[in-house]
Amino acid sequence: GSFEHLVSDYGAGGEFHQHAGEGDPRLTTAQGVTISDNQNSLRVGAPGPTLLEDFVLREKIFHFDHERIPERVVHARGFGAHGIFECTKALGDITRAAPFQAEGTITETFVRFSTVAGSKGSPDLARDVRGFAVKFYTDEGNWDLVGNNIPVFFIQDAIKFPDLVHAVKPAPDRGFPQAQSAHDNFWDFISLTPEAMNMVMWQMSDRTIPKSFRTMEGFGVHTFRFVNKAGKSTFVKFHWKPKQGLQSVLWDEALKINGFDPDRHRRDLWDAIKAGDFPEWDLGVQLFDEDFADSFDFDVLDPTKIIPEELVPVEIVGTLTLDRVVDNFFEETEQVAFCTQNVVPGIDFTDDPLLQGRNFSYLDTQLKRLGSPNFTKLAVNAPRGCPVHNYQQDGHMQTGNRKGRVNYEPNSWGEGPRAHPLEGYVSFVVKEEGEKRRLRPESFADHYSQARQFYISQTPAEQGHIANALIFELSKCQVEDIRARVVAHLLNIDGALAETVCTGLGLAEMPDPAPAARPTRQDLPP
Ligand code: HEM
Repeated sequence: GSFEHLVSDYGAGGEFHQHAGEGDPRLTTAQGVTISDNQNSLRVGAPGPTLLEDFVLREKIFHFDHERIPERVVHARGFGAHGIFECTKALGDITRAAPFQAEGTITETFVRFSTVAGSKGSPDLARDVRGFAVKFYTDEGNWDLVGNNIPVFFIQDAIKFPDLVHAVKPAPDRGFPQAQSAHDNFWDFISLTPEAMNMVMWQMSDRTIPKSFRTMEGFGVHTFRFVNKAGKSTFVKFHWKPKQGLQSVLWDEALKINGFDPDRHRRDLWDAIKAGDFPEWDLGVQLFDEDFADSFDFDVLDPTKIIPEELVPVEIVGTLTLDRVVDNFFEETEQVAFCTQNVVPGIDFTDDPLLQGRNFSYLDTQLKRLGSPNFTKLAVNAPRGCPVHNYQQDGHMQTGNRKGRVNYEPNSWGEGPRAHPLEGYVSFVVKEEGEKRRLRPESFADHYSQARQFYISQTPAEQGHIANALIFELSKCQVEDIRARVVAHLLNIDGALAETVCTGLGLAEMPDPAPAARPTRQDLPP
């Protein structure tokens, strides 16, 4: 059959050759030289030593030796797909952002789902937060909405992120545990970080063992700004709602799936798209102004808090459809570079201290990961549907230097791009004042109320899952003091839950509740 034409001949020693036949492309080196034999290195005698002169062998192995790039420092394991975003409700009076100007406007997108803690080869069904990162290739540049499947975060300030991630990842001495949230270091850090308690309740819920990427919600987490043509700002929170429904599995199921098919989530997304069963998410926004922000019990710039949907309903403004798998996993899914700082006119930041730190981190890590500041030229990262003109030049792997002599601005040669004050990105004007200090505002101090609200909002079965997850995960923490410190926090959330976990863990006695507001360094007298 089809194998026939490949088998051209066997050499004198019985070795197998494949030769390019009619219509088959020729195998070449990277220099374009046609290769005559891809099975035998150049040797003296039989076998005899291999010759340094064999450029075919050396080039092939040299390239292979350099195939690996560093995995992402977090969210290493992910899976991407292409799609489109269709605006279903125009928001022109609220934002000038291109995707929202008219109903029916289509914006191309690339989405990468991920786990956070595990390495690139870790199993899909880990109990972990999931990344939900969306790149919008808008007519006015790329906008990245780099979110998670949980609407709150562990910490309030980016300065804590390296410690959080160190505590979550395998311990530095033993190199385990992998890809699961629960162990001594993680719980130690959490027990000393009361601001994490809201996130921990979500993390111990069914949300962190989704049935499929297709059945997850997504959230932008931070409060962002929309800015309209007149320069008016509105606060906005972003929500992705899966049309497939929100579905999770039980922990026992997750364990079985991980053993049976550790690629379950990526296979599921690939199969669905290949079968034409395109997953869809509605994009919802919560819009509110400064007055609401001032009247709300929590600080809207605190990323450990949600804005309750009863107070500010989620308005659906568009639909995301994933309709195309990648052609190549490495080129697209692995090399895609999302960054919270990629915004377009009409979208702006707030003073959320976590967002401010993220804005530095992504670009910085991507230079390390992708090796060259020219990664924006890769097809998956390059803007589409809008021109890119600037005087950036050179650097590793440059392919698009400007032609001609002009590589600076201003210049009097009458050539080259110029800034455009009217259509260009203008940062929203905010009046900032205050003392330069390392200060956590008082409005960031309540760490338990929303954790309680989340727990109470769960059905009895779901509450049972949270309790079981806490008992199971904490039982793997070897240090009794750490377990007790976590239970002390639970006492501030729900007494019955604390009781169940305390008994489940077999603690000698119920600890005292954690001090509700622990003094931070900044609160101490100077
Ligand atoms: C990667 C979400 C907080 C640093 C990611 C990715 C997502 C994400 C979805 C994966 C992107 C991809 O698929 O390529 C979030 C969310 C956060 C958060 C929702 C909190 C609300 C932070 C913070 C920092 C940070 C506070 C640092 C200060 C990173 C880094 C990567 C990453 C370094 C790897 C990026 C890369 O190598 O391309 N994050 N993250 N994240 N995040 Fe975050």
